[in-house]
Amino acid sequence: MSEAILLVGGQGTRLRPLTSHTPKPLLPVAGVPFLAHQLARAAAAGVTRIVFATSYLAELFERAFDGWDFGLELVYATEREPLGTGGAIRNAAKHLTCDPGDPVLVFNGDILSGVDIAALREGHRGTGADVTLHLTRVSDPRAFGLVPTDPDGRVTAFLEKPQTPEQIVTDQINAGCYVFTRSVIDRIPAGRVVSVERATFPTLLAENALVRGVVDDTYWLDLGTPAALVKGSADLVRGRIDSPALPGPTGDALVLPGARVDPDAVLSGGTVVGEGARISAGAVVEGTVVLPGARISAGAVVYHSVIGRDAEIGAGTTADTVVIGDGARVGSGNELPPGLRIGCGATVDDESVRTSAAPTLCPPRTALPSGVRHASSAAR
Ligand code: GTP
Repeated sequence: MSEAILLVGGQGTRLRPLTSHTPKPLLPVAGVPFLAHQLARAAAAGVTRIVFATSYLAELFERAFDGWDFGLELVYATEREPLGTGGAIRNAAKHLTCDPGDPVLVFNGDILSGVDIAALREGHRGTGADVTLHLTRVSDPRAFGLVPTDPDGRVTAFLEKPQTPEQIVTDQINAGCYVFTRSVIDRIPAGRVVSVERATFPTLLAENALVRGVVDDTYWLDLGTPAALVKGSADLVRGRIDSPALPGPTGDALVLPGARVDPDAVLSGGTVVGEGARISAGAVVEGTVVLPGARISAGAVVYHSVIGRDAEIGAGTTADTVVIGDGARVGSGNELPPGLRIGCGATVDDESVRTSAAPTLCPPRTALPSGVRHASSAAR
């Protein structure tokens, strides 16, 4: 028996409008709900029971995995009000069955990683640590919490997002996967909001607990932004990271059953075409997530974007790094600039968005066009 807690209660604000109706961990990534990749990897590492710590759109999780068999027992712990990462772990612990001295894996529900989960757990057990954190190295750590370690791998500090170059004391960051000794979880205050990163971990250090960091340089990606979601999906499809849950062979594109792709359309860069979606003749779709039921019309060119469920891209429209909400309709002859987000159900009339006289997709343009009142755009 090996137990884990999966943190999946966040609102996924950076991924709106995709997360308006679907929690981030359930967004399709390489053709399946993202969590399917995490669950399959956890099962392969010997995890037998997972407690989902849910809050936002909690009711959708149970339904999403109805009929799936990961060889795992799935249990659900729902917070009435979001309790933050630490509060959620504490709340989920009421469903654990292991002993106080046993290791419990904890995963953020939005991390795609190749870390050796079993080795992390066994290393934790072998050293008698209170908490073991998976750490990864990034070239620009400014947006992350830094976690320096001593030569023995003992964590020496938790440093929130550094503001000045002097504050960047390491390139090691918290990778969102932990092993807790069960009794440590039971000491997190119950029934109130607690951040594991800002409160639980620093408190453990102050108490001189053994907090270990294991630096692992395998694939790692936080799927919190549209660009990362698109990259993670494409990397899975192209085989840059393995997943037992991938629903087809790796290659340039993944076309799911029930999708229709015209022979004169070109798919590349790890594009996924979801169930019931349709790609018409002459369309070029690169590195894009086309969600179930969406349509890309003749001659449209779409790069590195997410096209929402049942959304429509009109004939000849060009789009680069955009997010189109579920059910939105973009008319023909538009030119959607990088970073544009169009809300669920919104309509963009034919030829109402033109970003330059010569419709090319590169180099990227940043100015938002006039005439997008029916669409919502966001800075990130
Ligand atoms: P953003 O709003 O875009 O920052 O995304 P998020 O809401 O997912 O927040 P963040 O990426 O910081 O969360 C890290 C992980 O913790 C994700 O897997 C979240 O689902 C989860 N999480 C964050 N807050 C809570 C909470 O209050 N309760 C539970 N159960 N999970 C949470």
